[in-house]
Amino acid sequence: MSDHSRRIVVLGTGGTIAGSSSEAGANVGYTAGTVPVTALLDGFSAPAGFELHVEQVAQIDSKDMDFATWHSLLLRCQYWLRQDDVAGLIVTHGTDTIEETSFFLHSVLQSSKPVVMTCAMRPASSNNPDGPQNLRDAISVATTQGATGVIIVCAGEVHGSKDVSKVHPYRLNAFSSGDAGPIGYVEEGKVRLVRNWSCYDAPFVGNTAFPLPAANEWPRIEIILSHAGARGEIIDTLIREKQENHPDAVAGIVLGATGNGSLHQALEKGGIAAQDAGIHVLVATRCIAGHIIPSLIEKLPLSTDLSPTKARIALLLQLLKDRKELVV
Ligand code: SIN
Repeated sequence: MSDHSRRIVVLGTGGTIAGSSSEAGANVGYTAGTVPVTALLDGFSAPAGFELHVEQVAQIDSKDMDFATWHSLLLRCQYWLRQDDVAGLIVTHGTDTIEETSFFLHSVLQSSKPVVMTCAMRPASSNNPDGPQNLRDAISVATTQGATGVIIVCAGEVHGSKDVSKVHPYRLNAFSSGDAGPIGYVEEGKVRLVRNWSCYDAPFVGNTAFPLPAANEWPRIEIILSHAGARGEIIDTLIREKQENHPDAVAGIVLGATGNGSLHQALEKGGIAAQDAGIHVLVATRCIAGHIIPSLIEKLPLSTDLSPTKARIALLLQLLKDRKELVV
């Protein structure tokens, strides 16, 4: 590394971007998380003044993402962001839960340096993989003056962690930020912003120092979706486990509402009973765009602008904070 260059650290966690198939060129039916991140970056160089440094943090299919991997990734991000010569991070990740990991990191990291998450819809062994271009775009974003926050770069779009969702199982531009739209686009290696980098603050933890306990101590929070024919028995079981002091009893339940906070009557009744039993209940809409407009007659607490999966992360962090396991 030259004396004055700054490092962009690429942390690999697996995903389709690191996937490979035994069937030559196939775009489906591959195994995610098999190609080392060093191999993904073979032949890549950083723009003048920057150097790439690569580290494998995990090697998984992101459908299997868990608290322990989040915790290790968080610790590696914190470590690298503290280094003066590091300008920013890139995290390679599977598309399936990238929006959750991104929102988690967004909620807990305090650095003003960019953390650019990227991914791919086709495996590295595809005849036409999209990962290399996404990686090039991620490098462009991470080395852009003023870039900040935890963001997702895929198919030439730059998305903010709070609004982004995976909305398509196959096409290359699989992400949408709903009504908010992307933060910007990457075009020929240049970022064109359409919103501010910091278009929202970290929503729940903010500027809180964050020494989390070991992942096996993080509270269990379940998501239950409201739907036609929904039944309350699952909630009854969770309440019973709580009342019997089951070691892994839930601390929280997120109810995925069908619209503007509306729940099947069986789940609404179950949610109220769960709350009475000391379980934290949060209602979030399963609609992929828009947010809940509260009324005066809400029976349960709302997360108005987060998807159920992100509301679960917000509740997780809130409960950890309430346990005073964070140093404020
Ligand atoms: C994964 O999420 O790890 C597999 C799917 C993908 O990356 O597109």
